[in-house]
Amino acid sequence: MKTTSCTRRDFSIIFLFVMVYALIFVLHQMDILQFQPEVNSTIIMPRVSPHRIVNHRFCTFQPRSPQDALEERLILDSIARPENPLLPSPNSLEQTTDPAHSTFTILPGRKGGQWHVGDQLEAMIQTFDFQGHPKKSGGDFLTASLHNRKLEAGVAGQFVDHLNGSYSAVFSLLWEGDARVEVTLVHPGEAVTVLNRINRQHPDRVYYKSLYRSGSLSETTPCNVCLRSTQQPVCNHTDLRSGEPWFCYKPKNLSCDTRINHFKAGYDNYLSAEENKLFQSGVNMKVSIQAAGPSNVTVLPEDGQLKVKSSSVASLPSGYYYQGVWRALGGITVSQFNTSAITQCLKGKAVHMYGDSTVRQWFDFLNAVLPGLKEFDLHNPRHIAPLKSLDNENNILVSYRCHAPPLLSLPIPIRELRYTANELDDLDAGPNDVVVLGIWAHFTTSPMDIYIRRLQSIRRAVVQLLDTNPGTLVIVRTGNSRSLNDKVPPLNSDWYSLQCDKVLKAMFKGLKVHLIDAWEMTLAHHLPLDLHPPPPIIENMVNSMLSYVCPQKHG
Ligand SMILES: *[C@@H]1O[C@H](CO)[C@@H](O)[C@H](O)[C@H]1NC(C)=O
Ligand SMILES: *[C@@H]1O[C@H](CO)[C@@H](O)[C@H](O)[C@H]1NC(C)=O
Ligand SMILES: *[C@@H]1O[C@H](CO)[C@@H](O)[C@H](O)[C@H]1NC(C)=O
Ligand SMILES: *[C@@H]1O[C@H](CO)[C@@H](O)[C@H](O)[C@H]1NC(C)=O
Ligand SMILES: *[C@@H]1O[C@H](CO)[C@@H](O)[C@H](O)[C@H]1NC(C)=O
Ligand SMILES: *[C@@H]1O[C@H](CO)[C@@H](O)[C@H](O)[C@H]1NC(C)=O
Repeated sequence: MKTTSCTRRDFSIIFLFVMVYALIFVLHQMDILQFQPEVNSTIIMPRVSPHRIVNHRFCTFQPRSPQDALEERLILDSIARPENPLLPSPNSLEQTTDPAHSTFTILPGRKGGQWHVGDQLEAMIQTFDFQGHPKKSGGDFLTASLHNRKLEAGVAGQFVDHLNGSYSAVFSLLWEGDARVEVTLVHPGEAVTVLNRINRQHPDRVYYKSLYRSGSLSETTPCNVCLRSTQQPVCNHTDLRSGEPWFCYKPKNLSCDTRINHFKAGYDNYLSAEENKLFQSGVNMKVSIQAAGPSNVTVLPEDGQLKVKSSSVASLPSGYYYQGVWRALGGITVSQFNTSAITQCLKGKAVHMYGDSTVRQWFDFLNAVLPGLKEFDLHNPRHIAPLKSLDNENNILVSYRCHAPPLLSLPIPIRELRYTANELDDLDAGPNDVVVLGIWAHFTTSPMDIYIRRLQSIRRAVVQLLDTNPGTLVIVRTGNSRSLNDKVPPLNSDWYSLQCDKVLKAMFKGLKVHLIDAWEMTLAHHLPLDLHPPPPIIENMVNSMLSYVCPQKHG
């Protein structure tokens, strides 16, 4: 009897131990893989990359084609992070990256502390936590730039994450004279993990509404690209032409076709109190990292030696500033256009801009500098497209139209919600037409698959446009870094913008479109970051666009 009971107890202890262990393991896996816990998930399938878990029970779209699905997976994998540091335990902020303890050091380089134009400069960043212990894992989101204020010169750095708590920032040396390194911790890796989770689990963290009205009846209901299923019937406002999904809860007493407008209704913050501490301005969000030694070097004239790329960073910057002027690398020569040069360049041309307010800035810029360009008064508030300007004498048309939902805007009539792909399909263009696309800022609050899907439909339209309207020039403005003024994370963050930027660049690669790298143009400039970059940067962007429209003639 005794023996049996003893054995049984031993067995149950082992059993209990195994169960607890299994539970810990499962919880740990769930943590690592960041499954969405709140909906019925019958089967949990561990996967290699957490980015693959992009679909949510209440948010599943059929990809348009197997190729689209494959491309989506490849792109998501290409932007997946090598490592996912988690907040080690509650109350463990102490063990996350502290920019105040972290430092960078300029490495002596191949020539032992002598640099010439054309060389690369490498700075090693060592991160430490709030207790002053070196960090042993990677994943922090850092940015770096090299500046010379006097010369108004600047270039963005490229990063290598060594996954051991240290990072290399690599800069191309492009001007003679002083060059000062600036490094910023945008988010510790633990915060990036939280952002990634929020982005996947809460595709509806920003919510939208629509007003439905018929006669004297009116009702407002929530809308989104995915709606959590409830008993309430849903109106399917998926765009039939482009296939872009959009849904609203059906109004009780009105039919789905009485939808009048669309607007941003609000947002939720899904962070725990502990997680919120990962997003403290001035503490661990967009804070400078100081140099352990000198933070600047003197760059000597080009020494004529054969340049061998010495670092592990393959890609070059897309350009740099010199005397406040953006010089693109590996593409066109950016020329400077004064008022009369802009008019000469755009004579007889139409510039069609589509996207968000960051490309509307280009529209506004042209209207401000060109005296002959007169904006039609279409009696629309600025956020409601379309905007149109005409210079009759020189036969110049400049227009702007915003993209469709998920547009975070004040109420906008349904008839003005146009999917850019459809607009491009309807465009009768040719060698005198310039199409400018700037589509990113309203997608940084959605899961990446929604952005990829949108770009796939736009790209399809672009390919067709180039095919059937030869000579049309297509320019794509990428996303940029923003300030912390508009209280953003975790709702929004440069982290999401950078992911969007990478996706955008990957998706238009190899097409006959010209990218204007707003990401680097804002990072490399000495002016403060802003969702809507200040005029000197816009001028450089517009000059870049015009340089594609009217390339410099040589000889
Ligand atoms: C969730 O689970 C419940 C009960 O198991 C089931 O009735 C319901 O259909 C499930 N919902 C979804 C979206 O799978
Ligand atoms: C981290 O890895 C890099 C690259 O392998 C190496 O140069 C550096 O010394 C390592 N740092 C630490 C603290 O181990
Ligand atoms: C919404 O409508 C589109 C287009 O008709 C259709 O393809 C899609 O399956 C519908 N979605 C739902 C959830 O009913
Ligand atoms: C819908 O109509 C019913 C009956 O006319 C009314 O009681 C109810 O308040 C209406 N609901 C809404 C949301 O307008
Ligand atoms: C770095 O900058 C300081 C102050 O601007 C300057 O005095 C110093 O000479 C510079 N150092 C190098 C190596 O250029
Ligand atoms: C504008 O630039 C052109 C050369 O691009 C130059 O010939 C012209 O004089 C300039 N006009 C003014 C008003 O500066």
